[in-house]
Amino acid sequence: MNKLNSLAILLISLSLFSCKPATENSDAELDKKVDSVLALMTLEEKIGQLTLYTSDMDQTGAFIRKEYEQDIKDGKVGSIFNAYGAVYTRKLQDMAMTTRMKIPLMFGYDVIHGHRTIFPIPLGEAASWDMDAIELAARVAATEAAAEGLHWTFAPMCDIARDPRWGRILEGAGEDPYLGSLIARARVRGFQNNDLKATNTVAACVKHFAAYGAAQAGRDYHSVDMSERMLREVYLPPYQAAIEAGAVTVMTSFNDLNGIPATASKYLMTDILRNEWNFKGFVVTDYTSIMELMHHGVAADTAHAAELSVNAGVDMDMQSGFYNHSLAKLVSEKKVSEAQINEAVKRILRVKFQLGLFEDPYRYCSEEREKQLIMNPGFLESARDVARKSIVLLKNKNNVLPISKSVKTIAVIGPHADNKRDLIASWSAAGNWTKSVSLLEGIKSQLPDANILYAKGCNLNDDSTQYIEQAVKIAMQADVVVLALGEPAWMSGEAASRANLNLPGVQQQLAEALQETGKPVAVVLMNGRPLTINWLAANVPAILETWFLGTQAGHAIADVLFGNYNPSGKLPVTFPRSVGQIPIYYSMKNTGRPMNPNDKYTSKYLDVSNEPLYPFGFGLSYTTFKYSEPTLNSTEILATDTLKVSIEISNTGKYTGEETVQLYIKDLVATVARPVKELKAFKKVKIKAGESQKIEFSITAADLSFYRADMSFGTEPGEFTVMVGTNSNETKNVNFKLK
Ligand code: BGC
Repeated sequence: MNKLNSLAILLISLSLFSCKPATENSDAELDKKVDSVLALMTLEEKIGQLTLYTSDMDQTGAFIRKEYEQDIKDGKVGSIFNAYGAVYTRKLQDMAMTTRMKIPLMFGYDVIHGHRTIFPIPLGEAASWDMDAIELAARVAATEAAAEGLHWTFAPMCDIARDPRWGRILEGAGEDPYLGSLIARARVRGFQNNDLKATNTVAACVKHFAAYGAAQAGRDYHSVDMSERMLREVYLPPYQAAIEAGAVTVMTSFNDLNGIPATASKYLMTDILRNEWNFKGFVVTDYTSIMELMHHGVAADTAHAAELSVNAGVDMDMQSGFYNHSLAKLVSEKKVSEAQINEAVKRILRVKFQLGLFEDPYRYCSEEREKQLIMNPGFLESARDVARKSIVLLKNKNNVLPISKSVKTIAVIGPHADNKRDLIASWSAAGNWTKSVSLLEGIKSQLPDANILYAKGCNLNDDSTQYIEQAVKIAMQADVVVLALGEPAWMSGEAASRANLNLPGVQQQLAEALQETGKPVAVVLMNGRPLTINWLAANVPAILETWFLGTQAGHAIADVLFGNYNPSGKLPVTFPRSVGQIPIYYSMKNTGRPMNPNDKYTSKYLDVSNEPLYPFGFGLSYTTFKYSEPTLNSTEILATDTLKVSIEISNTGKYTGEETVQLYIKDLVATVARPVKELKAFKKVKIKAGESQKIEFSITAADLSFYRADMSFGTEPGEFTVMVGTNSNETKNVNFKLK
């Protein structure tokens, strides 16, 4: 077949595709279309499809390839990231349409917690324990992103993180595999909505595969060394959940896992992902991570790195350009088979077809949708709602909160009090910090008649104490002090590990001076990770953990401060007392010498307790809840039975409130040492003051299964404890037997 004929056939077949909606495409039909395109491609064009470069519009890594526009025109790049906007993506797509094959570009971007309307950081959203809210946040993000020409987000980040020194803890769902898996699913549903072709969805990318969150000592990009049992029980489940929810792409992680860098790991990318989990989408590297194989010391040069990666099952090279540089040569030397390259190309083309790009390469570049959708009032309202659901009330002595709306004089103090810039935090995509609502603005909008005094008090991260006096002065005039403290946004996110988790600078000194005034102080924390706030916890009467809440932060916090919204968040991660306790997480093992304060030779520290400052699952409400004893439908079950656990929760306080009722399980005797408890279920319920609600959980064999001594997955008969409570540390327990 001559070239002209084959292109004509391609064009005819592409126009035929446009008649059919994606949902009618069976897998076989899709494969046929992909094959028909592949059959026409040269090796060079195929390698182009395996290449992803950043534009220079935004920078998310150290190295930019300046010639990316020429690369598009030359068919040397199949996808572009860090380029958005209907006009700009159209311009780049035009360039792709001048190539021989006219294969549309796919545009990717880090749409992590909102695109223009910024939602809370993912760790904050996780504190809502509200899957509908989390799904909604991802849906709004996808809608805005897709309106600006984007097809693909590098999210959700599914890395379990148990080390708050690691700055990227803010991008995930915290420490727990069960909660993390539910959230991973919700985010994928939100981004993709089971219909990649819709113009309000984007393809999801499950990252960073795998175990990136376990970087040694919390230092970013560091090695990971862990048992297969820990990997499979704790770290892999959220990635797998996201793939089961339909995520069509996966990103490799920067770290090595037990000596093999993930980007060169056949075990991860082929054995687990494709063979065990049946993943059909494509795998992209993280930023220049093929190049980094040389720093890891597993690749001698460019070609060697490309060979290791492609043969491990990595389809797309983000930014190192090594595939472009070396794959053709590797094929001619027979170090890489063309069949392997064909597979990779097919996986990528498949997603481009699913997105509808072959029907209309410009379907997502719509200036009209951009104008109509970006930051529309409905999205801002959603962002405010998700933000207030993400707030965790850590302390509320003497019911300092909520503050009465008839308060006469209120002092709003602290380096975060009138700060807009940090609210949208790291990975805020195309967010514009000037559009965010500061805490001071939020408070002003809810207290039109009050006397509102403001002082910065100190900077976020320096030693100057000269502003403290002024802050004390205004506090003295006020009925109540709202004190906004925390980290600057740049202290969390990528390449933002900390060895010290105290409040930076002189912020604690400011808090001490204000506490001295005797005025009631409510601290509003803004930070991307658990902090060791022992002094605050012991001394100030009220603390709200607000993470970084995004565009609507000020309104959301004011909603909680003045009681428009009763806080309902629960910590998705343990707060340590001391960096020396890390890693600290609730599902620890008991050890052979469990802690006994009266016995020296037990598992403990000499200088700090084993207890966290705030446990996983912790969070107060303006009302109080009382738990009945849990009851079971049977105290003995078979592996085929469903155990029903019932409990009654009563709202014993003055306000309507929401409570996240948590259920944990412990396997008392097994062939391997099991954690002291593991979250297996939870329900978030709204109960009016004075009312009660009965809650029922169903437990099946799946909840009791684990990797046994021989690494087979399943249950073992014996006794279990069910623990139901308001957090991982305060539960009511009952035992049952599995026969
Ligand atoms: C990060 C990824 C991100 C990528 C693209 C990398 O530095 O690790 O999470 O998706 O850059 O911006």
